Amino acid sequence: MSQHLLLPLVILVIGPDPGTFQDSAFSPSQEEPEDLDCGRPEPSARIMGGSDAQPGTWPWQVSLHHWGGHVCGGSLIAPSWVLSAAHCFVSNGTLEPASEWSVLLGVHSQDEPQDGAHVREVAAILVPDNYTRVELGSDVALLRLASPARLGPTVRPVCLPRASHRFTHGTSCWATGAGDVLEADPLPRPWVLQEVELRLLGEAACQCLYSRPGPFNLTFQLLPGMLCAGYPEGRKDTCQGDSGGPLVCEEGGRWFQAGITSFGFGCGRRNRPGVFTAVAPHEAWIRTQVMGSVPGPVFPTQPLELQSGPREPMEENCTVALPECGKAPRPGAWPWEAQVMVPGSKPCHGALVSESWVLAPASCFLDRISSDGPPRDLNAWRVLLPSRPRAERVARLVPHENASWDDASDLALLQLRVPVNLSAALRPVCLPYLEHYFLPGSRCRLARWGRGEPASGPSALLEAELLSGWWCHCLYGHQGETVPPQGGGGGGPLLGERREAGRCWNDSRWSLLCREEGTWFLAGIRDFSSGCLRPRAFSPLQTHGPWISHVTRGAYLEDQLVWDWGLEGGETEIQTCPPHTEHGACGLRQKAAQMEHLWPWLAEVHVAGDHVCTGILVAPGWVLAATHCVLRLGSTTVPYIEVYLGRAGANPLPQSHQVSRLVNSIRLPRHLGHGPPLALLELSSRVEPSPSSLPVCLHPGGIPPGASCWVLGWKDPQDRVPMAAAVSILTPRLCGCLYQGILPPGTLCVLYSEGQEDSCEVTSAPPLLCQTEGGSWVLMGMAIRGSRELFAAISPEEAWISQTVGEAHFLPPSGPPYWSPEGSNLCPLGMAGASGPPRAALLLLLLTPLIQG
Ligand code: ARG
Repeated sequence: MSQHLLLPLVILVIGPDPGTFQDSAFSPSQEEPEDLDCGRPEPSARIMGGSDAQPGTWPWQVSLHHWGGHVCGGSLIAPSWVLSAAHCFVSNGTLEPASEWSVLLGVHSQDEPQDGAHVREVAAILVPDNYTRVELGSDVALLRLASPARLGPTVRPVCLPRASHRFTHGTSCWATGAGDVLEADPLPRPWVLQEVELRLLGEAACQCLYSRPGPFNLTFQLLPGMLCAGYPEGRKDTCQGDSGGPLVCEEGGRWFQAGITSFGFGCGRRNRPGVFTAVAPHEAWIRTQVMGSVPGPVFPTQPLELQSGPREPMEENCTVALPECGKAPRPGAWPWEAQVMVPGSKPCHGALVSESWVLAPASCFLDRISSDGPPRDLNAWRVLLPSRPRAERVARLVPHENASWDDASDLALLQLRVPVNLSAALRPVCLPYLEHYFLPGSRCRLARWGRGEPASGPSALLEAELLSGWWCHCLYGHQGETVPPQGGGGGGPLLGERREAGRCWNDSRWSLLCREEGTWFLAGIRDFSSGCLRPRAFSPLQTHGPWISHVTRGAYLEDQLVWDWGLEGGETEIQTCPPHTEHGACGLRQKAAQMEHLWPWLAEVHVAGDHVCTGILVAPGWVLAATHCVLRLGSTTVPYIEVYLGRAGANPLPQSHQVSRLVNSIRLPRHLGHGPPLALLELSSRVEPSPSSLPVCLHPGGIPPGASCWVLGWKDPQDRVPMAAAVSILTPRLCGCLYQGILPPGTLCVLYSEGQEDSCEVTSAPPLLCQTEGGSWVLMGMAIRGSRELFAAISPEEAWISQTVGEAHFLPPSGPPYWSPEGSNLCPLGMAGASGPPRAALLLLLLTPLIQG
């Protein structure tokens, strides 16, 4: 039974059995003289107008034990017969032996047996022949008791509806059981029978709800013989362990069993009312099974006035419930923003998660938490909430049990003394269920969390983009580590990419809010980022959903609303982390079909609105480009330059993946003599690492072992679709021989693989990259003006680049040194003096060892 406000039952009513209660309207003895009365609880045991259940209220309720433990519910329909659900007894297509089961009757609290409570063995279990699986219907079972139940004030049968019986949709009925009180949250001791009021939903109304994708993106087709009860908004429902138990409706002073608890999708979820087996259609089957048993079940005629009348009111056709949590008028105006004021401390930021509960980091209160009772000054604690004229008082502080030693559980719940009335300006944030998977690429925001210093600026501007598990893991993990494939559950930390201009905001602490279909979820807490060099990482909140709902019994957990796997696709393979520098990973590129044209470090450098060159992101705020592209010869003024990242030419990615920045300054190395080939462009603000913009690794010199190399450029400067042409890098000796006398020191030359020569145009100065054995991409050089084969190497400029760009990712040197002293007199015959690579020279080169691995 999932209901957020259930009071434990403590009143025991012991009274004499008044015997069969006669009713003038319809006496069962007139209809079925051999049968008992049904559907009437002990009259004195019910409280008029009340809603709390009491012992004896539901005297037909039984508990079915399998090997001694409660598994399902059932209802007594005759002294020797119990009605329940088939799925309780069928596993893997076979019916479990009756001898393993026992029936507890007259049990109000399973911990403390009351007067009249007793146990019966089961003689037989009967299930319809056509029953296979719950979702396919006919989920009904009959249990014949080994000996009749002892009827009394707390043990009485319920009435069964005839096949012609029609329950009016929209009427309130009651479901009872000792099942879970929330998903995966068992009824606590002393296991007092729970009751919940549920509305009958018409077939059309229910099918309308189930036709909308719900948990796990599923829809469901209801079948004849199924019946729904509950509410579109959820929150009240039956749950695991209630199966087989009755759904009863009162008509003319008697309780008729309308349904048998059968299944649901989760418990109490929005637009997912409980599904019951309708009892009326099974009249004939039940009668056949119990034939000859005296006294048998009672099927009283439906009171006349209820037999006609509207079955499915017109207005009931399709009312779906929208999320009640997570709506914000605009990003940054968070209606759940809570500030906890503890005397003598700075305010602590948290979030309203229900009418009565605020979630905040426990670290705010650790100095006040002691093992012996609540904080002494709890009386003086206050909570400030949006649109509330006065501060709220605090009734209770519940820290997470691991809060003091596990940073990922740095959570506490504060209960308000008086629940607040929700409104557009004051509403809880949505919390994710355990299985929620926030899709990589989700748009998120950072919100204040805990006692961080106030950010100097509008925090609404703190945008973030979620990275996939692999990226997250690798950016914080270690080279060569393997990352298991992403599966359902919310495993590792979440990662947000800050998208706000300029500042790093490292001095503040944040939580991560992610939006799905306009609804905001609290996705992550405890931003544990170190420094500003890597994307922020957050602990996922979904692992704490069960604890939060257990404590609050009313927090707004909401199903995943977005299931479009989009760009990243499912991560199904084990992946390995590429090399790291002290700043994290560089040169990562995800393999996904839709990312084919996306090179996260390839930038479009738009110079003075006039021409476009390639640039390479070497650090979050720096792009490397060929000097001749960005500076015109003889010009002394710095042009207006814009840089675009996350573009994939004619195959454009969603706008959200694109980033543009202005160039603040151009830095050149202090070379004496001729013009330096490489220029560093300082961006107006950082570009945080994400799958669509990530710095490349830089080559420190030497020969990258096992590398395959590529010239990365555009086939045509208009559409700018990135193309990678496979090349081999020639040894300096061969290079020198081919271009004798005309090469500046530190020039790399390449040989294109068959047919790849024309892949890239040359005016944009394409870069030369190699993919190392470990998988990461390293920048080797940038094309020298007008050449397709010659590249200005990065490694000779390492000192200048590292000094200018502190975060540049130079990989540790590996392999033999590249520019080792060589005799220049060793050129193959016929090559010396060639001004370009002639045919004969190429042929020779192919016979000479090339740089490979
Ligand atoms: N099948 C469950 C059981 O065996 C009952 C689930 C009812 N679920 C619901 N959301 N109404 O106890």
